[in-house]
Amino acid sequence: MIIKTAEFITSAVKPSQYPPDDFPEIAFAGRSNVGKSSLINTILNRKRLVKTSSTPGRTQLINFFLVNNAFSFVDLPGYGYAKVPAHIRKTWGPMIERYLSDRETLKGVVTILDIRRIPSPEDLQLIDWLTRMSIAQIPVLTKSDKLSKTNRIKQKKLIAERLSMEPEHCILFSAKTRQGKPEVWKAIEALIDAPPEPAQ
Ligand code: GTP
Ligand code: MG
Repeated sequence: MIIKTAEFITSAVKPSQYPPDDFPEIAFAGRSNVGKSSLINTILNRKRLVKTSSTPGRTQLINFFLVNNAFSFVDLPGYGYAKVPAHIRKTWGPMIERYLSDRETLKGVVTILDIRRIPSPEDLQLIDWLTRMSIAQIPVLTKSDKLSKTNRIKQKKLIAERLSMEPEHCILFSAKTRQGKPEVWKAIEALIDAPPEPAQ
C-alpha cells in the first residue's frame, strides 16, 4: 500500500461526533499500552500521526484518521488499565461497544495482543464479542521484537490456542523492526476490498 495522505479527522465519544461514514473503516483495539497507536503509525509510515505514550491509558477517545482519501482508521481507547479512574473506565466499554455495533462502514477490527502475555479475560471478551457480532478480525501479536525467535513461535502457538484460532491466523508484528507490516496490510486490504454483506 502506498500511503499518499494520512490525516487526523476527529475525536469522538458518541455517534453524533463521529465523522460521516463515507469510507470503509478499520478499527484497532486492544488493552491499554499494547501498542495500538504505534502499530497505526508504523503501517502508515508516520512517526507521530497518532500519539503514543509509555503511560498506559493515554488514548481515551475514539480517534478517526483518513488515509489516501479512500478509507479510515480508527484508534480505539485501550481497555484494562486499572489506574484509570473508575468513572472513566465505566464509560469505555459502552463507548467502544456502541462504536463497534453501530458503525455501518466498519469492515473489521485489528485485535492487538502483546506477544509476551496470555490473553486477559478482557481480551477474550472482546474477541468473543466480535465473533458473535460477525465482525471480521485481524489478530496481531505485537512487540515481537521483545522475544527470541524460538519464544515467538512458542507464544504464538499458546496464544492462538487460548483464542481457539489457528496459529497461522495470528500475525507477528513489531513497531520497532516493522516485522509483519506487509502481512497486516494484506489482511486490511482484503477487508477494505470485501464486497458489502448482503442485506438480510
Ligand atoms: P493506549 O493508547 O494507552 O491504550 O496505548 P497504545 O496501545 O496506543 O500503545 P502505544 O502505541 O502508545 O505504545 C505503548 C508503549 O509501547 C510505547 O512506549 C511504545 O513505544 C511501546 N511499543 C509499542 N509497540 C511496540 C513494539 O512493537 N515493540 C516495542 N519494543 N515497543 C513497542
Ligand atoms: Mg494509543
